[in-house]
Amino acid sequence: MDPNEALRVLHAEHDRGLAIISKAGSTEELESAKVSVLGRKSPFTEVQRSLGSFGPDDRRRLGAVANEVRTSLQAALDERRAALSGLEEGRLLEADRVDVTLPGRRPRPGSLHPLTIVERQIVGIFTRMGYRVAEGPEIEDDWHNFEALNIPPDHPARTMKDSLYVDIPGLLLRTETSAVQIRTMESQEPPVYVVAPGRTYRREAVDATHLSVFHQVEGLAVDEGLSFSDMKGTLEAFARAMFGPEQRVRMNPDYFPFVEPGAQVAVSCFKCGGVGCALCGNGWIELLGAGMVHPKVLDNCGYDSERYTGFAFGVGIERVAMARYGVPDMRLFVEGDVRFLEQFQGVA
Ligand code: PHE
Repeated sequence: MDPNEALRVLHAEHDRGLAIISKAGSTEELESAKVSVLGRKSPFTEVQRSLGSFGPDDRRRLGAVANEVRTSLQAALDERRAALSGLEEGRLLEADRVDVTLPGRRPRPGSLHPLTIVERQIVGIFTRMGYRVAEGPEIEDDWHNFEALNIPPDHPARTMKDSLYVDIPGLLLRTETSAVQIRTMESQEPPVYVVAPGRTYRREAVDATHLSVFHQVEGLAVDEGLSFSDMKGTLEAFARAMFGPEQRVRMNPDYFPFVEPGAQVAVSCFKCGGVGCALCGNGWIELLGAGMVHPKVLDNCGYDSERYTGFAFGVGIERVAMARYGVPDMRLFVEGDVRFLEQFQGVA
């Protein structure tokens, strides 16, 4: 390369460099522009390398021009880099922009399920009277669910038609929480005062007043000298605590194999006060089965039935919830429709 050619290249590279630097649209493009104009293989570097072969005057003159070109290109690069990083930051900021004046999205508060609410209310009323909470398994054996409860082998509850059996012989899904009565008495000495809330299962056609999976709270009191009037007083106290002080309680004779005598207990309709309305029909709402614990059941659990007496009751949680909140159809409890469930927000 001769000195004239070298000078021409320096000027040309200066112009080309300024052009591509100013066109670089991103820091990556600017990096490749830099390599192209000042890099090891660029025409500019080639000129610099050939300076050594020129005479002293040309070398000094062209060296000075080369320095000016480098300084000028470097300045252009720096300026463009600054501009681009500002631009890119701006773009990032724009993409990330948050409008702090937008109203927030309020989280929807959850609520307890109405059956949970009612179960807690029922259990709370009895624990305040001194009862303790007991539990039992949902898969039960024949002894606890039937035999010990004095339910004879030919009782219809034992058939496949009424009970839900599991694949293991002798086990079934408990048909009533009364099974917990047996487990409790087997595991402790009297006196007993327990309530046992839980899920129960029956092979039942589902409709407005029946579910095949439902809930009960069982109650059991066994002590010396407990009488039918103790039971009546306890259940009246429960009804008043649950539905209000004006509540009246009605007991009609009923049959359950594990109690004698047995009763069907109804409360005066909280809606019409007992005169009769669409909700109750005749002024009464049947809520629970109850009775004096059958001596055979006490004997089955190793309790001395000459010395101890007791009463038991089983409350249907769905029924109480329907009565308490005017729910017309039991299926609403299991359908999971938020429009139904959210009405219980704030109820504890
Ligand atoms: N277990 C009975 C039922 O499910 C209710 C009940 C419990 C009746 C305790 C008497 C005593 O219908």
